Amino acid sequence: MSRGKFITLEGTEGVGKSTNVTAVVECLEAAGLAVVVTREPGGTELAEAIRELLLGVRDEPMANMTELLLVFAARAQHIAQVITPALAAGKWVVCDRFTDATYAYQGGGRGFDDDVISQLETLVQGQLRPDMTVYLDVSVEVAASRIAAREHDRFEREQLEFFRRVRARYLSMAESQLRYRIVDAGNDLATVQADVRAVVQSFLGAGEA
Ligand code: TMP
Repeated sequence: MSRGKFITLEGTEGVGKSTNVTAVVECLEAAGLAVVVTREPGGTELAEAIRELLLGVRDEPMANMTELLLVFAARAQHIAQVITPALAAGKWVVCDRFTDATYAYQGGGRGFDDDVISQLETLVQGQLRPDMTVYLDVSVEVAASRIAAREHDRFEREQLEFFRRVRARYLSMAESQLRYRIVDAGNDLATVQADVRAVVQSFLGAGEA
């Protein structure tokens, strides 16, 4: 049995990732593929508990190093329990965020060197990398207005300047890595979903699958 493919979706908050994950999954299932849908941080009971630690708002500030290590701790669990077994069984894995979020948030946002993140990436993931990454891009102002009405988690409480650095890092990865597809998420949802479907169809049709 051939190994499944690993597809990730990335973007800052307010880009409509969850809805677009559904669009990706529908395309793959329509092509007859078995799909596992998951997310980071999270994806297993233990990793979801780590997610709560990461996103929860407390009086005690979280040190940046604690945040970085928790992200990778959750990832180690997720890879062992969900991602590696699914890919080995020939299933396709669609993941709402993965390590590019660490480069964007902990690297671009918090200021960790790429070298530090890359060492943890190798330690935790070995050779595992996404086969295709859909990056949903929107200005930080539009993103902030879309999430204005909901209660903000620990990351969403960051200033616009933090999200400008996160977005800049995503854009520089998206423009320099072949596995990336950039979708303009500033359009209305129907257009964004159509663009996401087109990207997935072209991945399937290009024989990359
Ligand atoms: P989400 O539900 O918007 O995906 O929330 C997850 C939050 O966790 C989001 O603010 C980004 C953050 N995050 C990191 O900072 N680093 C990571 O590696 C991942 C996967 C998420």
